[in-house]
Amino acid sequence: KQALNIVKMKKMKLDGVPLSMLTAYDFPSARLAEEAGIDLILVGDSLGNVVLGYDSTLPVTIEDMVYHTRAVTRGAEHTFIVADMPFMTYHGGIDETLRSVRRLMQEGRAHAVKMEGGLEICNTVASVVSAGVPVLGHIGLTPQSVNMIGGYRVQGKDPQDAKRLMDEAKALEAAGAFGVVLELVTEEVAEAISKELSIPTIGIGAGRYCDGQVLVFHDLLRYASPYREKRFVKTYADVGSLIREGISQYVQEVKQRSFPDESHIFAADETVLESLYG
Ligand code: KIV
Ligand code: NA
Repeated sequence: KQALNIVKMKKMKLDGVPLSMLTAYDFPSARLAEEAGIDLILVGDSLGNVVLGYDSTLPVTIEDMVYHTRAVTRGAEHTFIVADMPFMTYHGGIDETLRSVRRLMQEGRAHAVKMEGGLEICNTVASVVSAGVPVLGHIGLTPQSVNMIGGYRVQGKDPQDAKRLMDEAKALEAAGAFGVVLELVTEEVAEAISKELSIPTIGIGAGRYCDGQVLVFHDLLRYASPYREKRFVKTYADVGSLIREGISQYVQEVKQRSFPDESHIFAADETVLESLYG
């Protein structure tokens, strides 16, 4: 049984119950997130940065997303799972868009898809929603447009920008989006948008007043090397150091021949010894 759906999410917003969302990219990360009680999992195209080692999300393909989404949905069978539409898979014709959506939903078995953008994608959002697929919007800093934006910088710092973000959020709600991710948005603007919309806002670097929060798995757990500090991230565990220490101890013990020891071996009986050495 899946714990959450888009109707319940709207009700949670009304009741003032925050939504917790985390990214996951494979079976173990999804399983752990579900066991820990996360509300929603995002198979983010941040996959490109934190799992595949690219320097942006642009190289991530629909093939990558389907493959990783399928692993995540196997790992978290009772959690609402959103899959990112990768770069350039929803700006061509609607047929091409729907083919990519179909793959994430049917092969990946996601429950919803996420798309970056404002007014320019509202028709697409409406078409995908009318096909029966919940769509999560994503505005503010939209990493797929990094080459247009000119860097990963905070959005909503001046009046025109604030107004634009508000208009985009309202348009996405009108187009049928079930929620909107606000990434790197000033707290005041994110708060105003959250008050204005009836669908939940999910913030990342968007302050305290969004209806939910989302973080990247590897940021939350410092599961990266090298790890880069980000103001909007709180790290809750230093998994990277734990893993590095574990592996380095393993290497040492192999070199010292202290692993494996007596407790890890499978012993044969004396008749076997006799047959080997006479
Ligand atoms: O890909 C991702 O991880 C995201 C979140 C930052 C919202 O889109
Ligand atoms: Na993303």
